[in-house]
Amino acid sequence: MCGIVGYIGSNPTLDFLIEGLKKLEYRGYDSSGIVVFMEKPYLKKCQGKILKLEKTLIEKELKLAQVGLGHTRWATHGAPNTVNSHPHVSNSGELYVVHNGIIENYESIKSVLIKKGYHFKSETDTEVLVNLIEEVKKTENVKLGKAVQIALNQVIGAFAVCFLDVNNPNEIVVAKLGSPLVIGIENNNFYIGSDPSPFIRYTNRCLYLGDNEMAILNKKEGLTLRSLQTDNILKPKLENLKLELEQVEKGGFKHFMLKEIFEQPKNIKDALRGRILTRPNRIKISSIEENITKMAKSNRLIFIACGSSWHASLLGEYYFEELARIPVEVEYASEFRYRNPIIKEGDIIVPLSQSGETADTLAAIKMAKEFNPFLFGICNVVGSSIARETDSGVYIHAGPEIGVASTKAFTCQAIILLMLSLDLGYRTGKLEGLKYNLIIDELVKIHQKVEQLFKESKKIEHIAKKYQNSRNFLYLGRGLNFPIALEGALKLKEISYIHAEGYPAAEMKHGPIALIDKDMPVVVIATEKGKYHKILSNVMEIKSRGGKVIAILSQGDEDIRRIADDFIEIPNADELVSPILANIPLQLLAYHIAELKGCEIDQPRNLAKSVTVE
Ligand code: M6R
Repeated sequence: MCGIVGYIGSNPTLDFLIEGLKKLEYRGYDSSGIVVFMEKPYLKKCQGKILKLEKTLIEKELKLAQVGLGHTRWATHGAPNTVNSHPHVSNSGELYVVHNGIIENYESIKSVLIKKGYHFKSETDTEVLVNLIEEVKKTENVKLGKAVQIALNQVIGAFAVCFLDVNNPNEIVVAKLGSPLVIGIENNNFYIGSDPSPFIRYTNRCLYLGDNEMAILNKKEGLTLRSLQTDNILKPKLENLKLELEQVEKGGFKHFMLKEIFEQPKNIKDALRGRILTRPNRIKISSIEENITKMAKSNRLIFIACGSSWHASLLGEYYFEELARIPVEVEYASEFRYRNPIIKEGDIIVPLSQSGETADTLAAIKMAKEFNPFLFGICNVVGSSIARETDSGVYIHAGPEIGVASTKAFTCQAIILLMLSLDLGYRTGKLEGLKYNLIIDELVKIHQKVEQLFKESKKIEHIAKKYQNSRNFLYLGRGLNFPIALEGALKLKEISYIHAEGYPAAEMKHGPIALIDKDMPVVVIATEKGKYHKILSNVMEIKSRGGKVIAILSQGDEDIRRIADDFIEIPNADELVSPILANIPLQLLAYHIAELKGCEIDQPRNLAKSVTVE
């Protein structure tokens, strides 16, 4: 998982490269580097973030360069130091590369190259790749483009790569398999990014490179798209982006995460837009309409996902079983891909992913394809690999999520899952009209309830102050609130580095109760009316052992409010909707604790936004 940028054209490139890398820093921030070409190449790299790199760019001529590559790294092969940073250069000093992905057979290629006299400064797979291309270029006596095409057929793994040959600085060669790469186009100015955010201020016309495609970007001759496998020329399908610049900027908020939390009412409306009609209430999702026969006949849904998307899938399990009466299994993609799963005719595989690029989820999809199931993807990033690998699906329309901790994407995933299960349940006659209408009425109002619960922000900040020094937290919830407990705990641990665990509330007495003392805050999500008395007993059990309870309650709750040490109220809502609301104060609690502890909220240590390696 890394971010790559590149530019070739008739404008100075340095600012684009640096600002572009800052936009992609969410993809990794262990080290960064650029190469620009002005009569000779200037290579600058350093450990750490782009700001540090920026300070090293002092030479005036750098400002004039009209071709360059940049990289922000999430380390896979080799420590996150300067030597291992990209761009990497070939032994002759002629070829430069930036790479996102992994070359799995790099060791065997490396030993062949060492025997031919190549030497390596870094521990990376990327340095091996650029030297392989150099070797092919020399031995086959071909131009860079052809050498890239030949060499990439010899590698196993995933890549989005950009190459620059100092002998021909009018050209950049890019290629893709597995990792994302998109080219912004404005006449013969070409902007390259791992996603479009670096170039949307310059152009909205773009080409998403497909797997096994390469493009030669020549500032005089324009763009040539070729197949990596056959070398045939392909016809580029250009797209017009709908992304706005403000969507990828902080807009006055201190962190992207905070901006993304407060953006949720709008994101919810975007997720529902055009899909819910009222008076009479109706859900209209074209991918469900088109595939209703398959869906109605399906025996089972198998969700595959990682992290927060896995938590959302768990919520989906409750929704689909309750409303559409279809059995559901929720699988960690990383486990599923290595099992020998039983996938039968009539099973539908539902990969769920914000980025649409998570390596384990993609690999699980590829493995599942051997059984030829129907694949219905749920993604945020439009045109992402998972969206392309699936037969049909639905976008959650949360907009770009830049903070590493997922917030608005989780909320929109939950909204979409609820809507899909309602639609399916109603169309297949498993759900009666009264409930269908009631939940639709709730869904169209939910953004207002989120606005309303933001009024609790100050109080949440105060609770964060009180508990910021705790070293462990427990999060408990029953039923639909159990996935919320898991998600709340994940948010806290990933951005504040406090150990936190989520449990089904009733499981507490099977072990975790041993941990409870005055130093262990327990966040109890207690909005489920049906099991209210059971969760009340859990709260009593914690209190009688000296534990501290932070309760998430529905408005008007009397009993738990009286015994909890602290409480946050959420607006009243149906039990299928209230978990979506209950999650939002937990996002804010994690945010404020991390902020008080001075943590790097948008880029927590060791993490990356989308995990495109195993
Ligand atoms: O892009 P995906 O939804 O496939 O990503 C899955 C996880 O990597 C992701 O949810 C991760 O757990 C987040 N950091 C959670 O906040």
